[in-house]
Amino acid sequence: GKYRVISTKSMPGTRWINLLIQNDCRLEICTEKKTILSVEDIIALIGSKCDGVIGQLTEDWGEELFSALSRAGGKAFSNMAVGYNNVNVDAANKYGVAVGNTPGVLTETTAELAASLTLAAARRIVEADEFMRAGLYDGWLPHLFVGNLLKGQTVGVIGAGRIGSAYARMMVEGFKMNLIYFDLYQSTRLEKFVTAYGAFLKASGETPVTWKRASTMDEVLQEADIISLHPVLDKTTYHLVNKERLAKMKKEAILINCSRGPVIDEAALVEHLKENPLFRVGLDVFEDEPYMKPGLAELKNAIVVPHIASASKWTREGMATLAALNVLGKIKGYPVWFDANRVEPFLNENAQPPA
Ligand code: GLV
Ligand code: GLV
Repeated sequence: GKYRVISTKSMPGTRWINLLIQNDCRLEICTEKKTILSVEDIIALIGSKCDGVIGQLTEDWGEELFSALSRAGGKAFSNMAVGYNNVNVDAANKYGVAVGNTPGVLTETTAELAASLTLAAARRIVEADEFMRAGLYDGWLPHLFVGNLLKGQTVGVIGAGRIGSAYARMMVEGFKMNLIYFDLYQSTRLEKFVTAYGAFLKASGETPVTWKRASTMDEVLQEADIISLHPVLDKTTYHLVNKERLAKMKKEAILINCSRGPVIDEAALVEHLKENPLFRVGLDVFEDEPYMKPGLAELKNAIVVPHIASASKWTREGMATLAALNVLGKIKGYPVWFDANRVEPFLNENAQPPA
């Protein structure tokens, strides 16, 4: 192959590998055992000649890495992730490196995990499982693991982009929940969907579902029974959910986060969970991954999973394929279809809606 392409991790499937090696690339997949590669590790991998890199969300793609890649003649970098808060896009631009991400293929898989965490929290699945395995079940009881019914309750979605909208649709259609959402952009498709589904329920003699676009985030926090966070992480969404905002939520609300950890002030969340035993949370992401804030692991009203929202076989193979296409496209001069530079800013009060 003419072009040297590096993947900092082994990735699922073979399609991404074939795509590269059948199109003039010599692919090197890093075999380093440690989970998180440092900037120094990656600089060593890049070496003196490298055309493109497929990297991971655990890596810090800033000035140092983009200047090293550029010195090695590299023109392309793709994150194997839709989120790119680990990528300094300005630095990439400065060194002439194109940046790609992997949206689309993980929308439903991620929304399905958010829905799984919602159900698990509402019905206390993890606590109940632990109870069974501990041999504590000695007969049916009216009070045993009583949780929340979703039907007829309100689901609140913060950030109604691809993933937030897919989650909203699942909860509305699957569980007949009413929707309230907050986003800088109106989601007319989502609104139309809920309207049509509400009309269908009404025609079937059932209570229709409703939707509302909130004008402030606090409105969602106050009115929703379930709140799921789907913004991008940037400086406008860092600690979006803090002590004050937690206090605005219902005492028995359920909060779900499958976006990025720093969107929640995790220490404040631990305090809130301690003070409000009926408040429950389902978390896929953490502020200082791979760590959890002290106290979180001991709380019965928290369900925690290790950043697995996009972890379905189909999606992970799709992400790997898109990441390879991003890098290959740039190297060979094909259009780069999924370019992080083209993803609109989100929940940013100063941003202008796309024309
Ligand atoms: C995973 O967190 C992603 O951003 O794809
Ligand atoms: C519960 O198992 C019931 O039959 O109501």
